[in-house]
Amino acid sequence: MDENRLGGDAGDPGRPIDELCDLIVARHHAYLHRALPLIRAELARMADAEGPPAGTVAGTRDAFELLAQSVQAHLAKEENLLFPALEALAEADREGRARPALAFPTVLHPIRVMEAEHARIEAALDRLQGMTHAFTASDGASERWRHCLADLSRLDADLREHHRTENEVLFPRALELERRLP
Ligand SMILES: [Fe+2]
Ligand SMILES: [Fe+2]
Repeated sequence: MDENRLGGDAGDPGRPIDELCDLIVARHHAYLHRALPLIRAELARMADAEGPPAGTVAGTRDAFELLAQSVQAHLAKEENLLFPALEALAEADREGRARPALAFPTVLHPIRVMEAEHARIEAALDRLQGMTHAFTASDGASERWRHCLADLSRLDADLREHHRTENEVLFPRALELERRLP
């Protein structure tokens, strides 16, 4: 997926919701699929390196692993179940057809499940922030640890923006579209 082709503001109210799904996958899901394995490998290397107190690395690694597993399971549900259903609604709307048959009676339930998972993932981010003093390196921290903290900080910011786009733009627009289709 070429993000540049999609470009622009995710909040654009004129953007069809299937394009918005593509934009979220290209901008946020692709980033997570790349970044999570890289951060996992960096933290594994840190565990054997000199640097921050060993307890900090171990705690950060555990908090990251819980977060990464929740995120990976969540992305699979969106990419394989929810987003294809939203794309089918958008296509029916474009072609003037009635609401298509979907795997669920309404998209409301899976959307509520995704919102609850976002809240759990953000609680895991809060724990990660707590473990790392909000991703701040102490004086004398190694370059490698600073690099890990910068990557975790970027992950935190990207995930929160990703959730905001889904919770505040994509999901309300999908529910509105489902209500509007005959
Ligand atoms: Fe997502
Ligand atoms: Fe999500």
